[in-house]
Amino acid sequence: KITPIIIAGGSGTRLWPLSRQLRPKQFLSLGQEPSSMLQATIARLQGIRTGQPWVICNEAHRFIAAEQLRQLGVQAGILLEPVGRNTAPAIALAALQALAGDDDPVLLVLAADHLIQDTAAFQQSVQVALPLAQAGKLITFGIVPTAPETGYGYIQQGAAVGQGGYVVQGFVEKPDTSTAQAYIASGSYLWNSGMFMFRASRYLEELERFRPDILLACRRALQGRTQDVDFTRIDADAFAACPEDSIDYAVMEKTDAAVVVPLDAGWSDVGSWSALWQVTQKDTAGNVFKGDVVGQCTCNTYVHANSRLVATLGVEDLVVVETADAVLVAHKDKVQDIKLVVDALKTQG
Ligand code: GDD
Ligand code: MG
Repeated sequence: KITPIIIAGGSGTRLWPLSRQLRPKQFLSLGQEPSSMLQATIARLQGIRTGQPWVICNEAHRFIAAEQLRQLGVQAGILLEPVGRNTAPAIALAALQALAGDDDPVLLVLAADHLIQDTAAFQQSVQVALPLAQAGKLITFGIVPTAPETGYGYIQQGAAVGQGGYVVQGFVEKPDTSTAQAYIASGSYLWNSGMFMFRASRYLEELERFRPDILLACRRALQGRTQDVDFTRIDADAFAACPEDSIDYAVMEKTDAAVVVPLDAGWSDVGSWSALWQVTQKDTAGNVFKGDVVGQCTCNTYVHANSRLVATLGVEDLVVVETADAVLVAHKDKVQDIKLVVDALKTQG
């Protein structure tokens, strides 16, 4: 059986002003309304034989996570992190927790904030990965790249292994632009989707090999866990002492047991408003209007009206996002730099 592990501790500021500290991207309805991204991630598993899913998120988001799971009618464990230490520790906590209950389940690690259009194709890739994971491989799901993005991991695809997997010949997390360009030109690289599958024990073995410090801190943190109705809490001091790192740098770049299973399922990590515009169904003028919107002589524009009527006239290639306390008006080509706005707000206090 597969144990789904949903990592939901990110802050997702690139979708400001809709995503905020108290309501990051994974808890928003984007592209799969009325489900939130977290809910869609779990709903996407329907039809696969799985055990109870675990959601790993920040203490600050416990009520929104619990409420969204309740709406879904899914019995899930919720493991709370008092502070974020990135994905290598989050997945280690989940693996240790899973091992304590079951005999070494296969974990399907899913980011809580990705969009996948073709559920059947996603489930097919999971089925391809399952025997490889059972055999001790660390599976990543690979996406055919479309541009030299520097925010992704790049996987060099090697020889075929099993039914539909490929040896990972090299894994480079977030390369610089010229390296990414060379990878794309070579035609032998895939993007890392950020979803993984492995036996709990195999992940912990590899973590022990490459980052014993992280594993030790996570063991201590989980040893001191407490259960309070819906929530599993860990020892805050022990976890505060845990070094920060992502699974990509800590394990996937270094392990020699990695296997990539291609995923062709309309995947997007919705890293920006323009990415969301790109993957959403548009009208004939190329517009996406959400909420109470009137657009005249408007094209290739994304408008999200949250609490008031928004009207546009004679504009193109814009992103307009209206919320009760903030409005974003941006050129679609510039929304990658939303961090400039968020940082400016922080310095203003
Ligand atoms: N529980 C928990 N705790 N979850 C976390 C934490 C944490 O401290 N930090 C991040 N996450 C969750 C996020 O909510 C998201 O679902 C997922 O882990 C990935 O984190 P990101 O911060 O979005 O990673 P990234 O986008 O920079 O890179 C990863 O994803 C890319 C694809 O979208 C890497 O795996 C890349 O290699 C990959 O290409
Ligand atoms: Mg991401």
